[in-house]
Amino acid sequence: MSIKIQEIQDQALKKFDSAKTSKELYDFKVEFLGKSGAFTEIMKSMKDLSSDERPLFGKKVNEAKVVLEDAYIRKERDLKTKEINEKLASEWLDLTLPGPVQDKSTQHPISLVLNETVNILSRLGYSVRLGPLIEKDFYNFEALNIPKDHPAREMQDTFYVGENHVLRTHTSPIQIHTMEREKPPIRIIGPGAVFRVDSDVSHAPMFHQIEALYVDRKVSMADLKGTIAFMNRELFGSDTKTRFRPSFFPFTEPSAEFDCSCPFCSMKGCRMCGHSGWIELGGSGLVHPHVLKLSGIDPMEWQGLAFGFGIERMSVIKFGVDDIRLFCENDRRFLDQFPS
Ligand code: DAH
Repeated sequence: MSIKIQEIQDQALKKFDSAKTSKELYDFKVEFLGKSGAFTEIMKSMKDLSSDERPLFGKKVNEAKVVLEDAYIRKERDLKTKEINEKLASEWLDLTLPGPVQDKSTQHPISLVLNETVNILSRLGYSVRLGPLIEKDFYNFEALNIPKDHPAREMQDTFYVGENHVLRTHTSPIQIHTMEREKPPIRIIGPGAVFRVDSDVSHAPMFHQIEALYVDRKVSMADLKGTIAFMNRELFGSDTKTRFRPSFFPFTEPSAEFDCSCPFCSMKGCRMCGHSGWIELGGSGLVHPHVLKLSGIDPMEWQGLAFGFGIERMSVIKFGVDDIRLFCENDRRFLDQFPS
């Protein structure tokens, strides 16, 4: 009998040794040590032995099992190590390869210039106020000293919303809302979308403006000029010049339009500046006393400066875009050229 046990043990050790994979090794283990394996079978023959022989037989079987368990554990460890090493060798990752390309988002050029301009003016103490896109006729016109039938209404082609409301044609109404709500000194900028019945290469029916208003006890044209010249230098470069031309706006007196020196040709004259060396940016002036009064501010005590300009125009100058319709077409080939 013990010869038989030894035979099975040798056979099992041989098979364990020949196993190529841990799966194969496990199958061999089941074959010998499993519930219906060779050792279970041989134990069944115990009943044929005399009661003297049985303990010795049982001991021999158990010893053989321990030898095999040991051999199994060792072999299994070797095979697992080998398998892991093989896997590591065949499945290595090249961490220097570029990852999958992701669509990167960029900021819209209008947002870029708008944010930059807001930052520049906030460094001068201006803080942002917003206003509604649909305005009462009163805020868009009347309170800005543009009564009904005033010829100045024709300066701006208006989208009317019913009898008394309009899509705001400029951000100047934000001045009025702020003066009604807040006490001077006031130093605010109002950015946002505005609307006019207009559409060609240099005009879109919706565009963006920033309005600035500063009301205090001693505000002069010198403050106005200094502020706008500073803004232009910060936006377009330190050698940018600013020019003021006398003009007319019903809500300012005196009024001036302001231009910056053309950054494309260094004022030599080019297509972008209409060969004049200057590019028109916006309108400005000292707030008309009547406008202050209508908003509840005493013009004998307070003065104000105001200016307003288009963001699209600023972006055209900053990025050299020559068709402002590109700003609202959402063409990725255009938008991807701007920084994120
Ligand atoms: N609101 C004017 C426009 O859209 C621009 C403007 C001119 C704003 C003069 C002002 C100003 O604040 O003082 O054409």
